[in-house]
Amino acid sequence: MSISGKKILIAVSGGIAAYKIHFLIRDLIKQGADVQVIMTPDTERFVTKLSLSTLSKKPVYSDFFGDNGTWNNHVELALWADVMIVAPCTANTLAKMVNGICDNLVIATYMSAKCPVIIAPAMDLDMYKHPSTQKNIDLAESFGHIVIPAESGELASGLVGQGRMAEPETITKTIVQFFNFNLKKNLEGKIVLITAGPTYEAIDPVRFIGNHSSGKMGYSLADEAARRGAKVILISGPSSEKVSEKNIEIHKVTSAKEMFDKVFEFYDTADIGIASAAVADYTPKMVATEKIKKNDESFTIELIKNPDILKTMGEKKKHQFLVGFALETQNEEENAIGKLHKKNLDMIVLNSLRDAGAGFKNDTNKIKIFTPSEKKEFDLKSKDSVAIDILDFVENQYLK
Ligand code: PMT
Repeated sequence: MSISGKKILIAVSGGIAAYKIHFLIRDLIKQGADVQVIMTPDTERFVTKLSLSTLSKKPVYSDFFGDNGTWNNHVELALWADVMIVAPCTANTLAKMVNGICDNLVIATYMSAKCPVIIAPAMDLDMYKHPSTQKNIDLAESFGHIVIPAESGELASGLVGQGRMAEPETITKTIVQFFNFNLKKNLEGKIVLITAGPTYEAIDPVRFIGNHSSGKMGYSLADEAARRGAKVILISGPSSEKVSEKNIEIHKVTSAKEMFDKVFEFYDTADIGIASAAVADYTPKMVATEKIKKNDESFTIELIKNPDILKTMGEKKKHQFLVGFALETQNEEENAIGKLHKKNLDMIVLNSLRDAGAGFKNDTNKIKIFTPSEKKEFDLKSKDSVAIDILDFVENQYLK
């Protein structure tokens, strides 16, 4: 299960274990999460905002009031998050949380949060053992929060016992498990048919006409649809990508004609069709049976039109929800909307080669989604996160 695209709010309170938060942030960012850090005022004595904001790629807030008379909106921060992690959570911060003592940005944000809360306490062993701390942990759990118990070992005081904050890997594992458990399997029972990658059109036994598609976008979509419970049929042109989820049936094809035939073997049973493949529009009229020799100064290949797979899916559409892609270099929106109508689609995803980091090969993409009545624009994101956005949009349209 990926935590890519998940919005994770980390609230750091003032204890020596705050230094471990650097590793936690690095871990979460590496996995594609969107991380926002806030801290109590005293935390700055242990770690710097600069190091935490460099790793999280976002400003770090510790006060209600920003520079130049601005206001750090705790309600907005709280509502943004998919999950809030309080780590390290000192005895003081824990006590304020469960008693509603709202005297800093962390507690105000916590009290405004509607998302689940995970707490990783850290303190000296006697403080951890103290009945008031244990009562506060019980109270936090009774609020529905997940408490990751402190670990045993040598503490900053030199004493040995339970009180060390759980290691960053343990906190990451808890977050991943949390999202795994809470993932809504909204596509359970649905069949999602996805085309991905390029097609290769043979000229002779050693040469072909192809394009730069890697298959990354389509494979990310396949994994995300499978995570949501769908049975996925992935029809892929040549690609070295791999899927990580089970429940994905992969059919490898080479040419547009082969992709066409494979798609229509499964199309009738599909509930959702997503065409992310970069299909060659033309193919050589004749394929030489032997390698073509370079005898002449110039060489001409006659091309004929390939079938338009997606257009045919649109023509044969019965119950299917159909999503197309448009890869454009100019008049992007006009061309995408044209394809939406011409191919009888429910939704089209536009990516433009004029946007840096978008389109072929990159691990990132920048998209706009159009339906016959709506338009939505997204930031540059990892292809895994783009797949989440696309499937969220599909679910909103298709399951409504
Ligand atoms: O694979 P990656 O490296 O991750 O790159 C991803 C991508 C850039 C290939 C992907 O995001 C993308 O844009 N895919 C569609 C590319 C494309 O061929 O766009 P198009 O505007 O030419 O085609 C419009 C739609 O018709 C597409 O959904 C395409 O799959 C479909 N089509 C086109 C021609 C054809 N003969 N049959 C089709 O089904």
